[in-house]
Amino acid sequence: MAEEHREPAKTPPLTVAVAGATGLMGTHVRRLLEADPRYRVVVLTRSPARAAKPPVGNAPGTAWRHCDLFSLHTTEAALKGVDIAVYLAHSMLPSSRLTQARFVDLDLILVDNFAHAAEAAGVRQIVHISTLIPANDTHGSAYLEHKLEEERTMASCGVPVTTLRVGLILGPGGSTARFLVNLVRRLPVHFLPAWCDAPTRPTAAVDVARAVYHVLGKAECYGQTYELGGPDTMTFREMLQRAAAVLGKRRLFVSLPGRWSRLSRFCLTLFGGASKPMAGLVVDSHDQAVIPQANPVLDAVLASAVGFEAMLAASVQHDGRAKPNPRQSLRRVEAAMLKAGSEVRSVQRLRLPPQRDAVWVAEQYMRWLPRFGFPFIKCDVDPARHVKIRLRVVNVTLLALSFSPEHSTPNRQIFHITGGVLVRPNTDGWLGRLELREILDRRFVLTGIHNFRPRLPWYFYNLTQAQAHLWAIHLLDLFLQRAYLQEERRMSSR
Ligand SMILES: NC(=O)c1ccc[n+]([C@@H]2O[C@H](COP(=O)([O-])OP(=O)(O)OC[C@H]3O[C@@H](n4cnc5c(N)ncnc54)[C@H](OP(=O)(O)O)[C@@H]3O)[C@@H](O)[C@H]2O)c1
Repeated sequence: MAEEHREPAKTPPLTVAVAGATGLMGTHVRRLLEADPRYRVVVLTRSPARAAKPPVGNAPGTAWRHCDLFSLHTTEAALKGVDIAVYLAHSMLPSSRLTQARFVDLDLILVDNFAHAAEAAGVRQIVHISTLIPANDTHGSAYLEHKLEEERTMASCGVPVTTLRVGLILGPGGSTARFLVNLVRRLPVHFLPAWCDAPTRPTAAVDVARAVYHVLGKAECYGQTYELGGPDTMTFREMLQRAAAVLGKRRLFVSLPGRWSRLSRFCLTLFGGASKPMAGLVVDSHDQAVIPQANPVLDAVLASAVGFEAMLAASVQHDGRAKPNPRQSLRRVEAAMLKAGSEVRSVQRLRLPPQRDAVWVAEQYMRWLPRFGFPFIKCDVDPARHVKIRLRVVNVTLLALSFSPEHSTPNRQIFHITGGVLVRPNTDGWLGRLELREILDRRFVLTGIHNFRPRLPWYFYNLTQAQAHLWAIHLLDLFLQRAYLQEERRMSSR
């Protein structure tokens, strides 16, 4: 670390695990930590191959561990012996061939697993990057609401969390730099609604990494939230104008009255190449001024923060296009692997009635299954909660589920998908699973099917079984509400 001089290591180094270390932020954080003998870096990666054989140029002393944050089991194993855990992942990268879920629910699973695994490993501090929320008020924005849910979930397991709230992060290969460059390159005329005039302070990825480094292991930062921003205050309009100057493009900017939120999101996605959630966050978080409140971490970072022009110039290639994400080279390989694996992830949020838990939902699920399938399907459940979903007329098992007591807790029930004609035969010992997980102070349960490998031909499965599953989960939600009311009525009539 160039700016902050620290004493040479006298005590054993702290082990810092970085989830998302291969991405934009992770790459910067990793570099800072690897240069400091006070820390021993553990890189968490989804790829078992990369974990087994770290890439050429890997810093000596940096350990790579396999960790799929969708799996609590592998996350617990990956965080063993870790002192500090830095969370720089998100769920917007593809993780299966078919994903039926809202990204907000997927993010909650990753964060929930990370927080639980950190607690189990006795981690001292979690560092989490969230987003700037103007005046701590989400103004009904689903995206900002989701970020608050994520923060609450990260803090729910008792491990002290240091939250760094940042607006737009600019850096080589980052999504913000990419959509700014794309917009300026592709559109000669920019129609700018009112939200483009709210002041904000984009931050360089390297400065966010310095903030992470700054708060690491400091007890006074435990349980604290710090807002971050770059040195330049500007509106989104000015950001585009200054980006056009950096890229040497003459562009016309025309003001539009009104917010045009939907159209803005659509244009950010279509012309900027931003993901839908990213476009939503940009528009919603610029509803009003998004200026960070003064705080010691911001002061420390601002002392040598990178200015907007330098940030953008560092993010652009010589041909004027945005630099690729550090994970770019992996994307094609990953896409091919996901296609070959042909797995399904399907996650939905159900309302959990008061004083009920995931165990209750699992019981109701088993009561509901045969009713849902009547008169064609029946469901056998033995005392160990091995479930067979069968066709009534011909004795064929469609799906077999086995309750996994060793992986389950009262707030998280796991059933492995062990067989049935609707599942591809298992050749590698890897089982799909059904998860029922309480979230957000037991207000909801997430039902999740993970790593499910359908046997039906892929496109036929998409049109039939996959759609039927969504419909079934919708009906299950209604069933749970009815079952709760019936139970309450029975109790009160006693
Ligand atoms: N970019 C912004 O403007 C911005 C603004 C505010 C907050 N943030 C937050 O900053 C953090 C870092 O963002 P970024 O732009 O650096 O992301 P990025 O470049 O897209 O990298 C994402 C990382 O997440 C990891 N990951 C994804 N799914 C995973 C899973 N299931 N298990 C384990 N690892 C998984 C990937 O690891 P593998 O290589 O192993 O797949 C990758 O290293 C995120 O939490 C993001 O929400 C970003």
